[in-house]
Amino acid sequence: MSKYRYKVLFLQLLNKPQYSVLSKTNAFPCKYNLQSLFLHMQKNNLILRTLAGEQTERTPVWLMRQAGRILPEYRAVRNSVSGFKELVETPELAAEVTIQPVDILDVDAAIIFSDILVVPEAMGLTYEMIEKKGPFFPKTIKSLQDIEGINVIQGDELDYVYQAIKLVRAELNDRVPLIGFAGAPWTIYCYMTEGQGSKTFSIARRMLYQQPELARTLLDKITESTIHYLRRQVEAGAQILQIFDSWAGILGPDQYREFSMHYISRICEAITEVPVIVFAKGAYFVRAEMAGLNCAALGMDWNMDISETRQLVGNEKVLQGNMDPCMLYGEKVDIKAGVGNMLRQFGPDKHIANLGHGLYPDTDADKVKYFIEQVKEQSLKK
Ligand code: CP3
Repeated sequence: MSKYRYKVLFLQLLNKPQYSVLSKTNAFPCKYNLQSLFLHMQKNNLILRTLAGEQTERTPVWLMRQAGRILPEYRAVRNSVSGFKELVETPELAAEVTIQPVDILDVDAAIIFSDILVVPEAMGLTYEMIEKKGPFFPKTIKSLQDIEGINVIQGDELDYVYQAIKLVRAELNDRVPLIGFAGAPWTIYCYMTEGQGSKTFSIARRMLYQQPELARTLLDKITESTIHYLRRQVEAGAQILQIFDSWAGILGPDQYREFSMHYISRICEAITEVPVIVFAKGAYFVRAEMAGLNCAALGMDWNMDISETRQLVGNEKVLQGNMDPCMLYGEKVDIKAGVGNMLRQFGPDKHIANLGHGLYPDTDADKVKYFIEQVKEQSLKK
């Protein structure tokens, strides 16, 4: 048993009611009401301060998919169970692999180890995670009858995620903030209709032309579920939330507004307790409009020009991103130059350094560490 599991079990035994003070503050109606509290408690509060619009001594950094296969320590835990889903559904283990990158990579935030697909599963569509292939849903949504058969998340359906969040917060002891997350309704809709990843997502997109009302009904149910789920994550201790719209880029601008951004906007309006980061991969065509979302930050992929994005979005929002994950296959000297180039273009404030998409599984952990060190070193205001 690893040191985390001992500590986690110990904390479980104590069953500390440590979040009671925070949950009371939910009564405050203003955006980010929990944040001022977190700011004082947190040892490394760089990301929270950046998200609150403050200037910080350096640029904060974390990586999408930081908890995962690039770390041998992750693979060891993963190999101790039957598969990915058991890991996700076992709070003690999910907590352990959430904290690994904080210890090993020294990132400025943790992201809860889970998957966006737990939401469709809790709604009634189970998935399998097929080794080296990805997710697969044996049953998909094709008709109104199918939609009527699925539920809106209301309560404890995803209790294992909330338990994992509580364990992580207890174990982190405010070392760095914890990010919770969910998929954007559009991206979840893609998996629920398509059943798996796709090059064209033509089943998912076909429905927008043939049965747009059906698509809206499903998107509504996913949106409601996501709002309930994210609220519960915040109650459990998530201090920042990120919405992943991985398949934003497969829609044209009008359809994106109608079938994705509209629902993301509803989520942003509903979640007022913590800062929200919206990462819509490939949605370069609505960058100016995304500035109108009620969220603290926008994530960028590497296809987006940094200064052009800042110009389109204006100065209000924090921007997150956007190094090409493939840059980490390069030599250290090139990673160093790439980081310098990225930091110069974003400027010293209102930026959270990250990749433009999740880490690729075969990335060398040493290069990942180097990227993080370089962000810290080169952005430090001496
Ligand atoms: O970022 C983190 O470290 C937290 C954990 C996390 C996972 N999935 C764990 C995971 C997060 C934030 C996600 C989000 C997610 N899941 C997205 C949005 C982000 C993105 O990459 O666009 C999507 C589209 C999914 C769906 C999903 N899960 C796919 C397509 C796959 C297979 C392909 C792949 O990337 O591995 C997964 C599996 C998955 N989710 C793994 C991990 C660590 C790999 C499973 C394993 O072998 O251990």
